[in-house]
Amino acid sequence: MNKIAPSILAADYANFEKELKRIEDTGVTYVHIDIMDGQFVPNISFGAGVVASMRKYSKLVFDCHLMVVNPERYVDDFAQAGADIMTIHTEATPHIHGALQKIKDAGMKAGVAINPGTPVASLETVLNVVDQVLIMTVNPGFGGQAFILETLEKVRQVAKLREEKGLSFDIEVDGGIDNKTIALAKKAGASVFVAGSYLFKKDLKAQIDTLKAALHD
Ligand code: DX5
Ligand code: ZN
Repeated sequence: MNKIAPSILAADYANFEKELKRIEDTGVTYVHIDIMDGQFVPNISFGAGVVASMRKYSKLVFDCHLMVVNPERYVDDFAQAGADIMTIHTEATPHIHGALQKIKDAGMKAGVAINPGTPVASLETVLNVVDQVLIMTVNPGFGGQAFILETLEKVRQVAKLREEKGLSFDIEVDGGIDNKTIALAKKAGASVFVAGSYLFKKDLKAQIDTLKAALHD
């Protein structure tokens, strides 16, 4: 089933309670939460403490995307904060397999992510461990960037590997998603679509409806 995951990075940081309610009221089930450390990416967002506070106000699936060096250091913190999915980058740790296993052992769903410049081969050996594969469709760090069309080929490759290996993880795309690019990503094999600036710049519900229409959902 297709899922639209509004990215809280594009929302009002001073008012997460209200923003979570606004997202929940649209009927979507996911919220995408971007964690940035100022090292893996230049930008700094927020950490597990903020996620724990958000948890008090929402029953949405917390889809946490860590753009953080050595994310294995924060597995317990995010589990305790109430994260449902913890997605980490292959580029961020020399121990990707162990880190993903640690996420599963902590009771969360495990996601693996790759940047636009990283080949699918870097995550092939962990596909049997994960619940979600995140193909970055922009270079991570900031919202509002243009979708990189070349990344679609990697979505196709991962979908093909999933079929060949008889696996059932979700394929998520993140960055530059609008009512045009979402259809391309779906056609390539994605089913979880993160969207930030496209959704929050106007009426949230109306914008989500345009994405649903593009998905024919
Ligand atoms: C970028 C983040 C994205 C971001 C997407 O590093 O991972 O989740 O919020 O924003 P848009 O949809 O504006 O590209
Ligand atoms: Zn993200």
